[in-house]
Amino acid sequence: MADGTTKTAKLTIDGKDYDLPVYSPTAGPDVIDIRKLYAQAGVFTYDPGFTSTASCDSTITYIDGGKGELLHRGYPIDQLAEKSHYLEVCYLLLYGELPSAAQLEDFENRVTRHTMLHEQMMYLFRGYRRDAHPMAIMVGVVGALSAFYHDSTDISDPWQREVASIRMIAKMPTIAANAFKYTLGQPFVYPRNDLDYASNFLRMCFAVPAEDYEVNPILSRAMDRIFTLHADHEQNASTSTVRLASSSGANPFACVAAGIACLWGPAHGGANQACLEMLQEIGTVDRIPEYIARAKDKDDPFRLMGFGHRVYKNFDPRAKVMKQSADEVLDLLGIEDNPTLQVAKELEKAALEDPYFADKKLFPNVDFYSGIILEAMGFPTSMFTPIFALSRTVGWISQWKEMIGDPQLKIGRPRQLYMGSTLRDYVDMENR
Ligand code: ACO
Repeated sequence: MADGTTKTAKLTIDGKDYDLPVYSPTAGPDVIDIRKLYAQAGVFTYDPGFTSTASCDSTITYIDGGKGELLHRGYPIDQLAEKSHYLEVCYLLLYGELPSAAQLEDFENRVTRHTMLHEQMMYLFRGYRRDAHPMAIMVGVVGALSAFYHDSTDISDPWQREVASIRMIAKMPTIAANAFKYTLGQPFVYPRNDLDYASNFLRMCFAVPAEDYEVNPILSRAMDRIFTLHADHEQNASTSTVRLASSSGANPFACVAAGIACLWGPAHGGANQACLEMLQEIGTVDRIPEYIARAKDKDDPFRLMGFGHRVYKNFDPRAKVMKQSADEVLDLLGIEDNPTLQVAKELEKAALEDPYFADKKLFPNVDFYSGIILEAMGFPTSMFTPIFALSRTVGWISQWKEMIGDPQLKIGRPRQLYMGSTLRDYVDMENR
């Protein structure tokens, strides 16, 4: 916490002044500390949707929405996407610095040795209906990890916290792949420790016992880049859900399951599925004006999926890398003239040239192009959000670890602006 501040903000209520400390972060706007406001002035602040509220202090990720900048521990996402890889970014997010070669090898080794699931967990998958959405399976199975790994649920023990962190990063691809295999009616494919993280995931998703599966290094690199681009994103809805859940002292598996549930929504992680479905529904470039008109129509609930962001009022820097990746993957797979990519490119162009989107600063977000790559790889739309969830697990865990390690940790307990009935007497049934 930025203590020793010299700045204050003055708040006047009914002629009485209150001085509130103001903190200057290392980057971003100043923050007014209102923690003692209720005790001193007897008022709450009102900010549904947290549009002006910092819920914590953090050293992990920084976003400058105006510039379209995303930094992990200070390193820009485009450099990490180009020069680094997912597990190195995981290390950076979890421990604060880029690893040495020996540290990275040790970390990769630890993750690789935890990729298998307790065999009894396979019964859990089999208990779901075959047509279950893989996110429904993930919410349940990740929560159930706490029933299988009792030796890493005591959050007061740093060693257990560390083991839980490694377990979740390691097992999430296995869980997501199993959810996929189950809905396909194919046998589960067990992880292989000689493969890198992304290749192992692709193999668990696409291999079958009947024939060998060769991981295409181009697809593996693209997969790794998708993981990297989704690894963390500051205090978004699912991360805030994980933090709020863990503020009560709940075990880490339960908290990450809560994050997965939140991520599922179409305004958040579910947008990648919704976006590809929208691009496919549009189908051809000539129908774009109709959909742009619908997105602008106040009486139509339709929104351009993959467009707009609470924080970015400029290009989402992840979208730029994702667009380039989509071009590369389709090109290298020899998929020419992909109609969905054509629609995406023309839709992006049409929206960016339209004053409605320009005035509201609505730009493509990370989900606008990711679905095109995932579809080209062979994933159905229902797997898009599980892939986001497995990528974001490290972000949730890094933020959780940071929070648990904070000596000022308090249970999260927002207040409200109550607009309901005041005290009234119970009315007996015969008098209603
Ligand atoms: N299409 C059309 N209009 C939009 C869109 C869109 N995609 N997004 C926002 N707007 C308009 C709203 O109608 C609103 O207009 P108004 O001021 O005239 O009422 C204005 O822009 C501001 O929108 P809000 O919903 O108030 O902005 P907020 O910050 O709450 O929402 C959100 C951000 C949820 C991402 C929104 O832009 C959206 O629904 N986008 C589509 C879903 C999507 O792609 N989500 C993925 C987000 S990124 C992620 O989670 C990885």
